[in-house]
Amino acid sequence: MTLPKRHLDQLKRRKENNSLRSLKLVDSLIDFSSNDYLGLARNAELANEIHLKSNNQRNGSGGSRLLTGNNELFEETEKFLSKQFRAESTLLFNSGYDANLAVLSSIPQRGDIILYDELSHASIKDGIRLGLASKTSFKHNDLIDLEKKLSKDQTGDKYIVIESIYSMDGDEANLNELVKLSLKYNAYLIVDEAHAAGLYGKNGGGLSELYGLQNDIFCRIYTFGKAPGVHGAAVAGTVELIKYLINFARPFIYTTALPAHSCLSIQTTMRYIADNNRIQNAVFENVNHYLRKFQKKLKGQFSRTISNHPIQTIITPGNDYARSLSEHLLAKGFDVRPILAPTVKEGEERLRICLHSYNSTDEISSLVDTLATY
Ligand SMILES: Cc1ncc(COP(=O)(O)O)c(C=O)c1O
Repeated sequence: MTLPKRHLDQLKRRKENNSLRSLKLVDSLIDFSSNDYLGLARNAELANEIHLKSNNQRNGSGGSRLLTGNNELFEETEKFLSKQFRAESTLLFNSGYDANLAVLSSIPQRGDIILYDELSHASIKDGIRLGLASKTSFKHNDLIDLEKKLSKDQTGDKYIVIESIYSMDGDEANLNELVKLSLKYNAYLIVDEAHAAGLYGKNGGGLSELYGLQNDIFCRIYTFGKAPGVHGAAVAGTVELIKYLINFARPFIYTTALPAHSCLSIQTTMRYIADNNRIQNAVFENVNHYLRKFQKKLKGQFSRTISNHPIQTIITPGNDYARSLSEHLLAKGFDVRPILAPTVKEGEERLRICLHSYNSTDEISSLVDTLATY
């Protein structure tokens, strides 16, 4: 039986707009696309260590953590992460997507208001949609707009939801000011550290660790699939916050717990980062090299979002333009993906260039030279 006509029409429209998504196998191109900023997903030493530790472990957890899926590895990993992230408590989740759904669908309640950055990730928006609180977005990284909305009369609790580093722009939230605003208006601050985890802070605790704000943030969400190079996520906060999630967060309760291998991967990779901060330096040296080259060769030709993070952008208005520039780069051996509308606003389509510790300066220079001659 085929799809209903409405769905077929939607797919047709995507094709006409040049925005149809499809799965492709990753070629052996130069990687300027993955979120493996520190090269840990491909680190053989780490893989071997995780493999050895995983010997004799069960393949799967066998159930939800509230039933038979819990075991001492979870407890050990969460204790370790609480220490690394300087939190009273942490709770592991199967992914960052699940963690955001869990927090945002269960913590803000009917009568409360959620103020979230307009460029928030889909998992934040989906989590908010699943809950019963009302919601208003504020302009991207615009503290004046946020304060205007915070200062309105409101009987319920207020929540501010932001990302420390934005996934499509690579720019940074002003965490210090956000903490001050949250205190001034008695609002609960929720920070998604997905693209900062592992990259910033001695223990990889993101911008909240870098700026020493761990105790001032109500709830932090860490994902391990990006810079840490493995999989899964953790929520960090007070003992009460974690107790509440265990009791009321449906994406935590109604799913099979992670396998032992994931707990061991998370512990091993986060310990590796804390012991090897030089890999963080290596990726930021590459970012600086790219920015110098951009300034010299591309500034007059392309605009970019302001970012000092490994996520860099080349704005290419229109899906066709973004796709054709990406195809040009792919043909020259560079894996750079287009980000199309509706993932970003129309007119803000772009190439998302991710820099890594393992990109050589020659590869980066050659990417910029290829862009310059397009
Ligand atoms: C800001 C942000 N939050 C959450 C997620 C989801 O994390 P995960 O890939 O672990 O599900 C992503 C992933 O793209 C993200 O960019």
